[in-house]
Amino acid sequence: MQSCIPLVLRNVSLSGGRVADIAVRDGVVSHAGAGGPTDRIIDCRGLFVLPAAVDMHVHMRGGAQSAKEDWGSGSRSALAGGVTVVVDQPNTLPPINNPDALRARVFEAKSHSLCSFAINSSVTFDTPVKAMWSSGAMAFGETFFARSSYGEAISSQELGTALREIHTCGALATIHAEEIAEGDDRDLVFHDTLRSVAGELRAVEAIRECNTAGCRLHFCHMSTMASVTAAAAAGSVEVTPHHLFLSHEQFRPDDTYGKVNPPLRSEKERKGLWAAWKTIDVIASDHAPHTPAEKQVPFRVAPSGIPGVETMVPLLLGAVLAKKASLPDVIRKTSQEPAELLGIPPAGFVPGDRGDFALYPKESVRIDPDTLHSRCGFSPFAGLPAVFPRLVILGGTVVYEEGEFSAGSPVWFAGNGYYP
Ligand code: DOR
Ligand code: ZN
Repeated sequence: MQSCIPLVLRNVSLSGGRVADIAVRDGVVSHAGAGGPTDRIIDCRGLFVLPAAVDMHVHMRGGAQSAKEDWGSGSRSALAGGVTVVVDQPNTLPPINNPDALRARVFEAKSHSLCSFAINSSVTFDTPVKAMWSSGAMAFGETFFARSSYGEAISSQELGTALREIHTCGALATIHAEEIAEGDDRDLVFHDTLRSVAGELRAVEAIRECNTAGCRLHFCHMSTMASVTAAAAAGSVEVTPHHLFLSHEQFRPDDTYGKVNPPLRSEKERKGLWAAWKTIDVIASDHAPHTPAEKQVPFRVAPSGIPGVETMVPLLLGAVLAKKASLPDVIRKTSQEPAELLGIPPAGFVPGDRGDFALYPKESVRIDPDTLHSRCGFSPFAGLPAVFPRLVILGGTVVYEEGEFSAGSPVWFAGNGYYP
């Protein structure tokens, strides 16, 4: 007797105009085309069906920082934004700088996360690179070439040494490239001046010069067209939604909710970043929640970082509806490219692909922070047009539908060097 297919997505519009039924079994796409008996059929006519996103730059917090976010709230926020895999950054408290800390972080995520995840290793002068790689670190970084919230800077010399070791493992180094000038960090305009556009570009060049080993480099959150272009010559390029959709000119100068590293730039730079769209490999959120109480302090002492995992794909789909970006580009930059860079099996519509999808209506709403799921409770994207998923599928199981979550089978993606 033929067993039931657990899930079929009916009438999925694929690129090139083809319409197909996609069957998912045991977590992966089993075939495309009409099938036999099925437990659940979801009609996708009139919907955008996207392979779910891999957000390769999030700070899920947890532990001592649980008032900002934890794996429960952060992963709900991810799923409600069409993201089924997050890559957690190592500037946690304590940082992920030894195999025991990495194992504890994996345990914490396995215990509480509703979405799949990977964990990066920190990069400091004394990181045990080989041990972190064989313990399952996905990538190395974000490596702080300039200090930022919960991240101490590494010197050029130390970075060069670390990159040699990372290269020996065949791993990816992900780098936060900035240069910081001394001065009074009193508002968003000064923040942009002290962590300047020119300084970011110089940092990219300096990192490139450190990399005598030829390590695979990934440049996190590039904020201008010039740095995107320079970074593309040296590695892969990541850009955040906040640098694409926000400029400091949209905020009151002393608004700490817009304080982030690298800073929000001018409206002119923001437009320039869109002009570099084709050169951008990956869009990642740099989801970095802080509590309103932490943010509601004088600008100089407020922490940097804004939440964004839930609004990333929705904002980009808003841009698709506004004909500013194409749907295949959004899929490429939020799902296929990050999976490829990290060595995570791709989500998609071909037999064997990971069965992670998000289904979106073809109409936008205005972002309302009260409807979002991050514990921090605010969003600097409030009021912008965005398209939120109606339904999200993780490994063939519906895990989010019309605001409700249900348990699926999230996976830990260890890096390719994992040696249990
Ligand atoms: O603004 C930022 N916040 N930039 C970073 O690089 C770190 C992040 C955080 O962890 O808060
Ligand atoms: Zn960062």
